[in-house]
Amino acid sequence: MNLSAHFAVNTRLTRILGETYRSSEAALKELIDNAWDADATNVWVTLPDPVTNDPVIVKDDGTGMTKSEIRSEYLNIASDKRTRRGDLTSQYKRKIKGRKGIGKFAGLMIASHMKVVTVARDNQCTVIIDKKDLIENQNDLESVPLPFIENAAAGSPTGTTVLLSDLDNRLNFPTPDRLREILIYDYGREDTFKVFVNEICLSVQDVPGTTIQTTVKLPLTGDTDLHFTIADGKRPLRSPGIILKVNGKAIGRPMLFGLEDDEEIPKKLLRRVYGEIEVTGVEDFVTADWSNILENSKSFQEIKLYVNEEIKAALKEFHSKEVNLQKARLQKQIHQRLQRLPQYRRQYAEEALNRILKRFYDESHDRVATIVDVTLDAMECDPYWVVLDHIKASSKSDVGSFATSLEEFGLVELATIGHQASQRRQFLDFFDQLIQNPDTLEKDAHKALETNLWILGR
Ligand SMILES: Nc1ncnc2c1ncn2[C@@H]1O[C@H](COP(=O)(O)OP(=O)(O)OP(=O)(O)O)[C@@H](O)[C@H]1O
Ligand SMILES: [Mg+2]
Repeated sequence: MNLSAHFAVNTRLTRILGETYRSSEAALKELIDNAWDADATNVWVTLPDPVTNDPVIVKDDGTGMTKSEIRSEYLNIASDKRTRRGDLTSQYKRKIKGRKGIGKFAGLMIASHMKVVTVARDNQCTVIIDKKDLIENQNDLESVPLPFIENAAAGSPTGTTVLLSDLDNRLNFPTPDRLREILIYDYGREDTFKVFVNEICLSVQDVPGTTIQTTVKLPLTGDTDLHFTIADGKRPLRSPGIILKVNGKAIGRPMLFGLEDDEEIPKKLLRRVYGEIEVTGVEDFVTADWSNILENSKSFQEIKLYVNEEIKAALKEFHSKEVNLQKARLQKQIHQRLQRLPQYRRQYAEEALNRILKRFYDESHDRVATIVDVTLDAMECDPYWVVLDHIKASSKSDVGSFATSLEEFGLVELATIGHQASQRRQFLDFFDQLIQNPDTLEKDAHKALETNLWILGR
């Protein structure tokens, strides 16, 4: 006799699925991701004061769900949205985030009670999911009845609202700041998807770092409002640069306004610039389809120069702070070494070190310490120092002694080269003897080579 069996889904699964988030804010982000997938243009998150018993609300104006969509999609655990609907959303062609079909349980990580109210096609449906019911009904998730209400809602705009109440007090209550910080990386650049947390829309200020804002009236362009953050660099930014917004609409991709070609600004630092410049009124530098910028227009050139200068100044200030920090860390080592140099060499040495610190400021401490060490080594044993100093002194006196000093330089150079060459030849002779000796083992030859890699040339 052929019998069939089927899986029973234990309700513990919902708990396990809902407990895999790093923080309450990361769990909430799942609900915002769902609004994104539903082609919402706005999502409003309300985080009440923890002392009240008010629910956390995530409301969107997306497509909403019909009764059958709730049954076949929302309540269908682990079903893959992309196999159902393809990779892109139907209206805004967004890349769909839903993958696993379990994101809704994130709400149950922070709350015991979850109410989903959704409007689509003139109907409003409400489903209530109670964590306690799920836990009490240990054996089979499918047999737990979920209250489901359907109402006519003719003319109501579509969208979904999730209300989370009875928040778990063993977890940190979600805070607006932390939530905004998590959301800014994904949604800070989205023109068609505005996220409001307690009524305030995400902005460049939500990127952790130093924020600068300047408003100015440029002669050709008029009122411009530039705001940007130099991120703290702890997390890479998804699309760094400055977005140009004309009359509230973003044009093209984020840009660096020529700073990308500036030698003085380290590339790594540029990748931490995140901001917007808003221009109102003038729009003659935008292509007819509003998708790009006419780079050679005069007002765009004006904007470019302005943004370039502002950001460069801010980065230099910020950069020098970082350079000084780095320097402070190395100061002790540098100080001890500089003391060993004769007075007249110290100034050069210090200048050279400053240049090194500037250039390598974002390298690891160990790496910079090594570079500083090698530089100072070179300065301590450089025989040219003495001669160069002579030349400098005599350049101010008569031509005769100046010429002698220059000649001296050539002599030192020749003497050094000659000396080095004869020593190297001697070494090669010894090395040859070693190789010819039948008792020499390979490891002996290696040992001799170990500190004499010059044999192999540069
Ligand atoms: N706010 C919403 N608006 C419209 N439909 C929604 C909304 N939230 C969820 N859904 C529907 O319910 C389904 C299940 O959502 P859920 O978050 O559990 O899984 P997912 O988004 O498909 O995948 P993931 O587990 O990766 O988030 C979604 O695929 C979507 O069809
Ligand atoms: Mg999801």
